[in-house]
Order: sequence, then C-alpha cells, then structure tokens
Amino acid sequence: MKKTIALFLSLCLLLSGLSLGAVVEPRAAALSSSVQTAGKAGAEKGEKAVCDKPAYCPYCSEIHTGFWGFFVKVLHRIAYGFCKLFRIEVTRGRMKFSEITIDAGIETPFQFLHMSDTHLALCDKRDDEKKQELSKKRLSGFPHALRMLDDAGEKAAELNSFIVHTGDLIDFVSEKNLDTARAFTSKNDVFACAGNHEYSLYVWDDIDETTRRESLKDKVQSAFTNDIRFSVRLEHGVELIAIDNGYHRIEQWQLDRLKEEVAKGYPIILCLHAPLYTPDIYDYTVEVFGKPMWMMSVPDALMDKSDEGDYLAQKEDAVTHEAYELITHCDAVKAILAGHMHYDYVSQVTPTLKQYVVNTESGNIVSVR
Ligand SMILES: [Fe+2]
Repeated sequence: MKKTIALFLSLCLLLSGLSLGAVVEPRAAALSSSVQTAGKAGAEKGEKAVCDKPAYCPYCSEIHTGFWGFFVKVLHRIAYGFCKLFRIEVTRGRMKFSEITIDAGIETPFQFLHMSDTHLALCDKRDDEKKQELSKKRLSGFPHALRMLDDAGEKAAELNSFIVHTGDLIDFVSEKNLDTARAFTSKNDVFACAGNHEYSLYVWDDIDETTRRESLKDKVQSAFTNDIRFSVRLEHGVELIAIDNGYHRIEQWQLDRLKEEVAKGYPIILCLHAPLYTPDIYDYTVEVFGKPMWMMSVPDALMDKSDEGDYLAQKEDAVTHEAYELITHCDAVKAILAGHMHYDYVSQVTPTLKQYVVNTESGNIVSVR
C-alpha cells in the first residue's frame, strides 16, 4: 500500500515537473505568438512586457493568477499530465459544437462556423486602474474566452472555412482586448457584426451609448477586417449580411442598405447580435431571466417597463419596426444567426424562417445547401 502511495506521489511530482516545464499547449502557443505580434505592432516602445498574452490552463482553460492561482495551476498541471498519460480527453472549458443546416437553394453547398459573445475581458498597464479592476471581475464571468477563440480557429481550419462572429467579441474596450481581437481576425477569416459590448468602456457606465460608440468607432473597427456596423459577404451565391443591432435597433442607413441588398435577389443569411422577437424566444427568455429582455422588436405591450432606463433603451422605434417587417416578410432571408442572450436556442420566426442563437461557449457548424 505504502509503495503504491509513494509511486503515486512520485508520479505526481514527476508529472507536475514535466507539466510545468515541458508541456506546451500548442493552441495557446499559436495564438500567443500572433497576439504578441499584433500587440507589439500597436504598442509603443518599452511596452513589450505588458503585451504578452496570459496563457490559459490546458486543464480548465482558465487563466490562473495570484497566490492561490499558482497552487491551482500546479494541481491542474498534474491533472492534465494524468489525462495526457491515460489519454483522457480534457473537455473543461472547451467549445461545444453543434451542427445546423440552412436551406438556401444553392448548387454548391458550403460550411462555416458561427460563434458569439466571447467577451474578452483582458487588460494591462496601458489602461487605467479602474479598467484593470473591471477586468478581474469580468474574467470570472468569461474565464474561457481565449480558449474559445483557439477552439473556433481550430475548427474553422478543420472545416477549411470562415467564422461568423455575431458580436461581443470583446467585453469592453481595452488595448489588450483589441490586440487579442485583432490577432484573432488576422489569423482567421472572420466575418463579424458589433454587439452591445464592442463600444463599451466600463461595461455599465452612464455615458450615452450612441455618443460612446461614435467616439470609439474607429478604434474598435481597427481590430476587425469587415465593417462591423454593416457588411455584406457573398459566399457561393448566398449573401451574409452583418448588421449591428447591438442596441436593439436598426438605423435608417442600415435599413436602406438592407433594402438595396434584398433587391439584388440573393438568398440571405442575416448575422445580428440581438435576436428578433418571436413568441417562442420571448417565452424562453422570461423562463430563463424572469423577464423579457435583449430582443429586437418586442411589442410594446409585452415589454418589461419596471426599469425605465432598460425599457427606453430596448423600445422599438419606427425604423426598427420597418426593418423587422422587411426581414420577417422577405422570402430571400433564409436564416438569422444571433447571440446576445448567452443561451443556445433555435427560434421559429416564421413557418419558413429560423433564427439560431448561440451561447458564449457554443459553436454552430453551419451547412448551407
Ligand atoms: Fe454578450
């Protein structure tokens, strides 16, 4: 018995030594190098040290920091070593993939990956202390964000395809978040729309949302390769249209451009941050959150008016209503991809139109045929 325990402890020590010193997570290393390159490009002289991307734990996909974090890191390295040794798949904090099919009536089928709401919450000394405190709090809510980017990139490479990201890639604007987003969009082929967090400075602050978006627009856009407020991508005869409806509304210029695209006659896949109101997603949201929230075009009679600020922020305006009517009565729209709700859901918008909402750690492998 003693021999067995000793052997076990020796093995633990050996594995922890190996794990701490020699086990290199290839995915972490791959993204780490690209993040560092992007970070260096954007950083001023002398900031090299703060641009290093934190490595996440290969066992739980979280970033362990601080005094206790060190011990957790050691324990997890041991556990990871055992899993490697006995070929046990490590699934903690990994992206969960599902498959969906969109019938667009095209001759050459294609695939892509849909993900959303990664909520990168990184920060470094280039940002102020308030943001560094915010980062610590928000990281605990989205501990696997970096792993999600790596998993998605790996899956997209396997599919030999691109990634659609429907917003909230970053949780708030920080130099490090933008560097990381930039590395992700330059390393992978990413087609994205903005979410409500893309232009957020401190997640919840009192500054008017549209004023803040205007002031941060160019800075945030520099981390993406397509216009995240409105973009069109033609793939195998199907138009993917990304529209920023992160504040639950569509603007006149976006509606005008959507009409122009509809007139072209291509089958359309809409990529939005906030899903459209439907009775089923409304009921599900009330079930999950206790009240209806975060959908676009909820009828006024069904809105939650207990918080006037929230109500006014999400209340449908005339332009958004027109966009809703257009989308829900347009045969060319074959599917809607969305996020924002932080749950997985397939919603029936009309008898022939579905919208697919993905959670923060979910990826839908979308087959279009
Ligand atoms: Fe989100």
